[in-house]
Amino acid sequence: MPAPALPYFDQVLRRLAAGDAQLERCFGNHVHWGYWQDPHTCARRARQEFPQAAEALTHLLLDQAHLQAGQSVLDVGCGFGGTIASLNQNWDGLALTGLNLDGRQIERARQLVQPRAANTIDWIVADACALPLAPASVDLVLAVECIFHFPSRQAFLQEVQRVLRPGGRLVLSDFVPCRPLAILLRVLQSLRGAPFSNGTYGPIDCRWDQRRYTSQARLHGLELRKDADITSHTLPTYAVVRELFDAMGAASAVRDTARIEQLSRWGWLRYRILSFSKPIAAGR
Ligand SMILES: C[S@@+](CC[C@H](N)C(=O)[O-])C[C@H]1O[C@@H](n2cnc3c(N)ncnc32)[C@H](O)[C@@H]1O
Repeated sequence: MPAPALPYFDQVLRRLAAGDAQLERCFGNHVHWGYWQDPHTCARRARQEFPQAAEALTHLLLDQAHLQAGQSVLDVGCGFGGTIASLNQNWDGLALTGLNLDGRQIERARQLVQPRAANTIDWIVADACALPLAPASVDLVLAVECIFHFPSRQAFLQEVQRVLRPGGRLVLSDFVPCRPLAILLRVLQSLRGAPFSNGTYGPIDCRWDQRRYTSQARLHGLELRKDADITSHTLPTYAVVRELFDAMGAASAVRDTARIEQLSRWGWLRYRILSFSKPIAAGR
């Protein structure tokens, strides 16, 4: 399957190649929204402290993982390998795999992250909805801020259920709409017959509200363990992203980002960390 057109990644890769130092600091490793302890962090501080916020979000997700030495971890939609780098830095004896549909990102990740201590790292170019991995071969699947791009959440959950060992976990972060917005998006998308797409972020499917996430996961043999709504702690990011696009002269990207920001500030679109486990008895 060809990689979906994600114009923001084309832009980011171009600017990184051109040596954009501010972009490198904010999105050179992690390409996600980050976590701000103080939701009222001003734009200037947010710009300075972006790498720490990005790492803080990663740690929040990993807190849900209950990792142990010797375990295998699959990070789907791994971007430039920021999450794998963090795992590699802070744990020993892990079998790490970063997977992405975009070979250019995998190439950068491979160059940035070398395995240390007793860790191993594999990099795979593949679709998260068709995992080239054996059944029951993974202890932890991570999906950090990427599922809204996938062709099908159902297909992804089915694959996660297949590759997870009994007792294994799925930990993800995603933009999750409130129920009325989810219903509206479902109706609009069924009328259009295609997921929403904009010239900045490419295809974005945010039709699953919290209730649907939980029920669909259960249908695919995964039980919800924890659900944390951290929307307010992601809000300082929007000013930084708008500034970066503004500096690139990308006016439409500034507008697209401001629209998502508005939905988040109104509370219609929530940023959630969800963790699921595959029950021990469900070892099919
Ligand atoms: C916002 S980025 C998040 C990157 C990374 N998880 C991080 O936190 O730094 C979304 C990622 O999803 C990847 N992606 C989109 N569709 C995918 C698919 N079907 N299978 C695998 N990766 C995909 C994109 O290439 C991109 O790297």
